[in-house]
Amino acid sequence: MAEIITAKSAGFCFGVQRAVETVYEEVKKGGPIYTYGPIIHNEEVVADLEKKGVHVIASDEELADIHGGTIITRSHGISREEDEKLRATGAKCVDATCPFVKRIHRIVEENSAEGYEIVIIGNPVHPEVRGIMGWSSVPVTVIENTEQAREFIEQKTPGQTSASDQRNICVVSQTTFNANKFEEIIAILTEKGYNVRCMNTICNATHERQTEAKAIASKADIMIVIGGRSSSNSAKLYEICKRECANTYFIQTWRDLNLSPAGNEQIIGITAGASTPKNIIEEVQNYVRADF
Ligand code: F3S
Repeated sequence: MAEIITAKSAGFCFGVQRAVETVYEEVKKGGPIYTYGPIIHNEEVVADLEKKGVHVIASDEELADIHGGTIITRSHGISREEDEKLRATGAKCVDATCPFVKRIHRIVEENSAEGYEIVIIGNPVHPEVRGIMGWSSVPVTVIENTEQAREFIEQKTPGQTSASDQRNICVVSQTTFNANKFEEIIAILTEKGYNVRCMNTICNATHERQTEAKAIASKADIMIVIGGRSSSNSAKLYEICKRECANTYFIQTWRDLNLSPAGNEQIIGITAGASTPKNIIEEVQNYVRADF
């Protein structure tokens, strides 16, 4: 019998788990329930919630039609303006922003109020970054790579008379940003001796999931990665595992599994992307257990 190893970090991170549980708890309390955008990028979970009467608000027009009930925000947070917009509907607002993201909102709010320039290291179109930007009272610069960091550090801030003037800069990062790239960018931003308050706000969940997946795949005869077709973090997990184990499968549910065991497999590894619910992981585990 082969040993089945399921990664402890497979599936939902703390923040997503918390947000999804919040919605189920609100459903129990009753009344019209809305989520501001899909609570998670997993069609099965969203469909299940829909069956329970949870409606996804997809546009400003839909929001304008809401005058009561409960609106729940997503784990990656919203801007201050959106927050105000939701409150203006008169609905009860339940903030399911991940506490790690909320902390970044506070840092940006406080430091911009103190007159610091705000830099976010991350992807400028990601909803988490858009949300963070919205808590600053000064214009924000989003930096994705070392070239942009260099450009930024060479600029003069408005009102400066010479490039040697001191600048006060507060730097935060998108929670899922790559730690090595973050260090490289910080090295450039601190080069000129400006007053740089650097807050590493990267969340370890993604890194831990990837490190554990790699370790399991390196000893597995078969590795299974469960995740949504359009989930980029799942695709990344697959890529990491495939490098370690040629027999790596990328599936959405157990139904996609088409294994042909050679009979001498010792270890079967399982991991899952950030938006894969526990029950889907368990179903795959049970299915595999029956085969090996
Ligand atoms: Fe998840 Fe919160 Fe980290 S949503 S990835 S635990 S910042």
